[in-house]
Amino acid sequence: MLTMAIPTGRSMEDAAELLTKADILPPGTDPGRRLDIPLGELRIILVKPQDVPPLVHMGFAQLGLAGQDVILESGARVAVLHDTGLCPCRMVIAGPPKAREGLMNSPNRKLRVATKYVRTADQVLPQRGLRTVTVPLHGSVEIAPALGIAEVIMDIVQTGNTLKANGLSVLMELFPVTMRLIANPGALNLQWDRIRPMLERIREVSG
Ligand code: PRP
Repeated sequence: MLTMAIPTGRSMEDAAELLTKADILPPGTDPGRRLDIPLGELRIILVKPQDVPPLVHMGFAQLGLAGQDVILESGARVAVLHDTGLCPCRMVIAGPPKAREGLMNSPNRKLRVATKYVRTADQVLPQRGLRTVTVPLHGSVEIAPALGIAEVIMDIVQTGNTLKANGLSVLMELFPVTMRLIANPGALNLQWDRIRPMLERIREVSG
């Protein structure tokens, strides 16, 4: 028996479509509000995107579909088997126009960065030459500059509509984000015979 965790929310549809094309999910299966879909030797579970990597890491699911953003942020030790290229977006630093100058030129004080991605910010931003203090928020990070909580935000951008609606723009590109197929490293050894055909089918249909 294999369990695959897929994300709820905006990536769910793309994940379900990929699995349908790969003949893993029967056509016409509409996850709807179902969180547990038994398919004989495979069980699909639907969980919050940020819960996919930890559940795979802990072995509650052997496989998962997760964005590169949540994989990095989770710190979970998982094997990335394939980049599906789906749900493309970018991790960026964004802010109001006045923040542009202060981004690279504030030698005397640290820049406050509001983000849901605290671990990633602490890891990535020093590598980009930024001296920052991370301000953790669970969402609505785009409001932080207007409230004075932080000068800039670090977040994912897909269409750019949320930034635009809040008077913000991209100040620095950090890394691209796409949905990856991940696996529990132990399960790769023990259940490779079952995992391999699924990986091959997913690879075939996602290019
Ligand atoms: C993400 C992200 C931005 C928004 C960007 O949030 O944190 O707020 O999407 O998308 P856009 O560029 O297409 O406007 P999400 O909607 O996933 O909600 P969350 O804050 O609840 O995670």
